[in-house]
Amino acid sequence: MTDVIDPAVALSVLEDFEQRLDPAHPEAAGANVLAYGEISAALTLEQVPALRGLVLKRMSGFADLASAANYRTLLTEYLSRLRELEIATVSTSAVTVAVPGRRPCVYLLQPLMPADTLGNRVLHEASDEALSTAVSQVLDQSLKAFVANAAAPTDQLSIDAQLSNWTFRPDGAPPWLIDVGTPFIRRRDGHAFDQEILLAAVPPGIRSYYRRKGTASAYMDDYFDPRLLAMDILGNFEKEGAAQRIPVALTAANAWLADPAKQVQQQLGSPSEGPITEAQVAEYYKQDAATLELFLRVRRIDRAVRKAFRRRYDFILPGPVHR
Ligand SMILES: Nc1ncnc2c1ncn2[C@@H]1O[C@H](COP(=O)(O)OP(=O)(O)OP(=O)(O)O)[C@@H](O)[C@H]1O
Ligand SMILES: [Mg+2]
Repeated sequence: MTDVIDPAVALSVLEDFEQRLDPAHPEAAGANVLAYGEISAALTLEQVPALRGLVLKRMSGFADLASAANYRTLLTEYLSRLRELEIATVSTSAVTVAVPGRRPCVYLLQPLMPADTLGNRVLHEASDEALSTAVSQVLDQSLKAFVANAAAPTDQLSIDAQLSNWTFRPDGAPPWLIDVGTPFIRRRDGHAFDQEILLAAVPPGIRSYYRRKGTASAYMDDYFDPRLLAMDILGNFEKEGAAQRIPVALTAANAWLADPAKQVQQQLGSPSEGPITEAQVAEYYKQDAATLELFLRVRRIDRAVRKAFRRRYDFILPGPVHR
């Protein structure tokens, strides 16, 4: 991992920030929320000179320092395997911040990439041709992982390839992945990312329900199937309010499925179900949005209960999400 900032400096400023942070009101501690992810929140802290020009992604949900250390080991493995596969990522440093009396959290630090290079911008503003190229590019990056997975089925890796997770290069070179905080690694014994980190955000009763149903692991499985990965990229257009651009992207995705992905899909043993249709994208997205909305609601419930008992709720949650 190449450090984007001196780790000792990062630690001291982040400890100070973490002391001041109320996760329900990050702005009160001087943070600007760039985006609320499903797992982490992307922040900037422009008032702290050492952190200017950087994005901070705050991951919480670690039971203890050992759990945070395991996560960091996994992240390091994930980033180095992505590099080996030549899937470019934005430089990412990780810092564990442990305020006494509280559970530790891990901050991922990255350089703030220019807004006009981000996938969201491409989605809304690029020409049809450029959008189609962008979709093909992210699928081609994902293909590198699928090819490796077919060769090593017991130690697979994938990426969340939604357009919003990439920064596109002005010279037309392949985009760089910015969303690396959830390492998608699936081995013989299941997903390497500890689902307890996610489940820590919901009330204990619901936790055991999710555990029993294997919700998190089933959710992550989709990223290992080329067709479902493409479906997820397209479905996300709807969340971003760009459903009208689905047909252009669908053509690019189906061309990818019919050619480079077809062979690997067979090797991976995924059923080949022909081209994706707009109706399938809509249905897939509906289910996905319902799962994520439910997950957000149960997290809000936990936050409300903890507030009532004056206990700290350690996750930064979005307000209403338009899905
Ligand atoms: N390095 C960066 N430079 C500029 N913007 C960024 C950077 N990292 C993240 N962002 C912005 O924040 C958003 C969320 O970041 P990211 O996708 O890494 O987090 P996430 O919590 O995993 O989100 P989700 O769970 O929704 O995929 C990005 O889509 C992008 O708009
Ligand atoms: Mg993301």
